[in-house]
Amino acid sequence: MTPIPFIPETAPFTAEQRAWLNGFLAGLLAQTPPAPQTNNVPAAADDEPLLVLFGSQTGSAEGLAKRIAKEAPLRGFAPKLAALNDFESAGFASAGKAVIISSTWGDGEPPDNAVNFWSWLAADSAPRLENLRFAVLGLGDKNYSDFCGASKKFDARLEALGAKRLVPRAECDVDYETAAVGWIDGLWEKLGGGGAPSNASASFVGVQASACSGDTLKRELQRAESEFGAPPCAVLTSQGRTFPVDIEYLPHRLGANPPPPWELAADAFAQFVSSGGKGDVLVFMPGGFEISQTIQAIRNMSESRGYLVLPLHGELSPRDQDAAVERYEQPKVIVSTNVAETSITIDGVKLVIDSGLARIARYDANRGINTLLVEKISQASSDQRAGRAGRTAPGRCMRLWSRAEHDERAPQELPEIKRLDLSEVVLTLKAAGVEDCRACLQSNSIFRSSGTER
Ligand SMILES: Cc1cc2nc3c(=O)[nH]c(=O)nc-3n(C[C@H](O)[C@H](O)[C@H](O)COP(=O)(O)O)c2cc1C
Repeated sequence: MTPIPFIPETAPFTAEQRAWLNGFLAGLLAQTPPAPQTNNVPAAADDEPLLVLFGSQTGSAEGLAKRIAKEAPLRGFAPKLAALNDFESAGFASAGKAVIISSTWGDGEPPDNAVNFWSWLAADSAPRLENLRFAVLGLGDKNYSDFCGASKKFDARLEALGAKRLVPRAECDVDYETAAVGWIDGLWEKLGGGGAPSNASASFVGVQASACSGDTLKRELQRAESEFGAPPCAVLTSQGRTFPVDIEYLPHRLGANPPPPWELAADAFAQFVSSGGKGDVLVFMPGGFEISQTIQAIRNMSESRGYLVLPLHGELSPRDQDAAVERYEQPKVIVSTNVAETSITIDGVKLVIDSGLARIARYDANRGINTLLVEKISQASSDQRAGRAGRTAPGRCMRLWSRAEHDERAPQELPEIKRLDLSEVVLTLKAAGVEDCRACLQSNSIFRSSGTER
């Protein structure tokens, strides 16, 4: 097995960059090319053999058979994939378990690459097949008088020869996808590999917070499977539990010369306290400087009496970071970067004050380097921040910009891969021994759809 290179701890990358690159290299090298003859998928030594045969003229049945063969190792089976006419070399009679997917052509006839199989199976000389367990899926077209005739013949003849059905035969009309996938799911259940595919041998696992919906993730995984041959991957969706959050905006636009965000944040805090607001407050600021200014401004307010005011960002010592998430007798105000947006959850927050700003890594075309710029966050990001006030009870979020300005914001953040210069990634790939970086980047969906915007 080819060892997967990894980026050493000493390499000049942040932990995040290192994790990303290690994941990228592992995913890249896990795309094992199919064996030339049978397109079989590698399986573990103790996996149970499963023969997958197809009869197909224009590729639909063959595509489904390949899909089953690709998924089989994740279900604990060692698949062998072949055309029905290759039944002999594939060891059909002694296979133990066989799945047959076939279309019908002519007038109820098998497709060309299944004709010899049918001649052999239909003949009087065909062997008894008592030890065989089988499943047949037919593809056809209801406009033909002998709908799925070939698969019906295969199924009936196998039963007559003593083979036992694993699952009942199914017939799919021209829009076969949904029915076929349902039948395949039923087959895995019967074979004992039901439920989510084991991810022990999966090439990659997607871990997704709230940045996109489960449906979007499913669509992307299906695309990766059909376009790039990625192994099938189950998506588990957990909705989580949130409470309603009342969102308030500034009454007026901030305009071209807005007041400093820490002044706006301190005013919002004072308004919350003087209107009888109780509980912990989380303030989002873009970076260390703005955080210390905000802490100062809040402490200068008489309303902060009785409140602990604490910073939270990546540069703090672990002890100071722990101090921010700890529970205290008195209420607290945590002034944080976007680490508290997704990475860290702080219980008991009743109010979020959002400056609407973040330091975002982006390629700076003027200087020709990647850099951190203070920018307005997207609507999706501000929703995520607001949600931090509704973790354990209903909450409030005060956005330090107007409703009109909110509507003008980007709906979502641009993915980092589209914002940054990729030369660092290319050099790392080169250092890891990847010869053709262009081909490797083009074969990867996330790169294909990207391109640093300059
Ligand atoms: C010339 C021709 C003959 C066909 N005859 C039948 C038929 O007799 N019964 C049937 O159910 N479908 C029939 N079909 C439909 C195919 O079985 C169906 O399109 C199937 O999805 C093709 O799968 P494949 O790409 O794996 O060969 C026929 C299609 C064509 C083009």
